Amino acid sequence: MSKLIAVLPGDGIGPEITAEAVKVLEALKKDHALDIEMEEATVGGAGYDQHGHPLPPETLDLAKKADAILLGAVGGYKWESLDISVRPEKGLLGLRAELKLFSNLRPAILYPQLADASTLKPEVVSGLDLMIVRELTGGIYFGQPRGIRLLDNGERQGYNTLVYAESEIERIARSAFDIAMKRDKRLCSVDKANVLECTELWREVVDHVAKDYPQVEVSHMYVDNAAMQLVRAPKQFDVMVTTNMFGDILSDCAAMLTGSIGMLPSASLDSNGKGMYEPIHGSAPDIAGKNIANPLATILSAAMMLRYSLGKEALADKIEAAVNRALDEGYRTGDIYTDGMKRVSTSAMGDAIVANL
Ligand code: IPM
Ligand code: MG
Repeated sequence: MSKLIAVLPGDGIGPEITAEAVKVLEALKKDHALDIEMEEATVGGAGYDQHGHPLPPETLDLAKKADAILLGAVGGYKWESLDISVRPEKGLLGLRAELKLFSNLRPAILYPQLADASTLKPEVVSGLDLMIVRELTGGIYFGQPRGIRLLDNGERQGYNTLVYAESEIERIARSAFDIAMKRDKRLCSVDKANVLECTELWREVVDHVAKDYPQVEVSHMYVDNAAMQLVRAPKQFDVMVTTNMFGDILSDCAAMLTGSIGMLPSASLDSNGKGMYEPIHGSAPDIAGKNIANPLATILSAAMMLRYSLGKEALADKIEAAVNRALDEGYRTGDIYTDGMKRVSTSAMGDAIVANL
């Protein structure tokens, strides 16, 4: 039976990069019997413009009924002055929460062809292959109470709450241990247990879950040190597991080790393996509509979708191999361009991947 993919291009460069991933999926459909149907809907600022809400009910319905979701990016200058409750980002956060996509996998892999594109020395980053597992539906992003209140002295006070229940920590820890078991069996849990009680509990629960995974070597690191270690000696890490906000920050940092944030895909999974797949970069409104954005993170997100939600490992491998070949052939969008390479547009990069499938 054919699988339904919800395609949510979103804002900024979202539509351009998503179109290239769709192009790749269409090619697999035509030439490799991939049995999928794709249906598009708006989200983020586009959802607000069309339906008055960043997560329109028809989009949420489609996302719920789909077997997997492919998302571009949300946000842009145009919607920055809207009330926080209807800003584009709420569309994304709403999808994560409504679909219970608690486990966010953010791999950071350095393609050897791009070693020169990293701002770090090649010896520091060459061979880099790490996976950040970010908790995605809890923590300070969703904790109550939250808001901006008026104090007795007349000044305003902003407040958010960092909360994690044991069950929330346990399920993300298990998700990370399962991934570590399929890799180098090393897991580093990142917290701020020296200051925050919430993450003191985090550390305790991770240690408890560790008892079920005796083959995995577990370590704990404070987040400030982890940020430093990521730029000092990133190859010491195999899998990192951390809270929603720490994961947001550390994954941008890890992305830059690989030369460009334009290369990195992500998967956000529920407890049954249903997932939403998106590049980890944002909507880059400054370059939107110019056909210069790098579509590879989105194309690689489609590969993750085939692997994690559709059970099509061989086709996922095929996309990843095609990306490697296109890089070998010298195709580069502006963000990963170095001297002597072939600078190409968004759509030409998509064509190069299709040609290499
Ligand atoms: C990310 C983004 C989002 C986040 C924003 C757009 C809400 O930065 O996916 O990392 O903070 O989670
Ligand atoms: Mg982020």
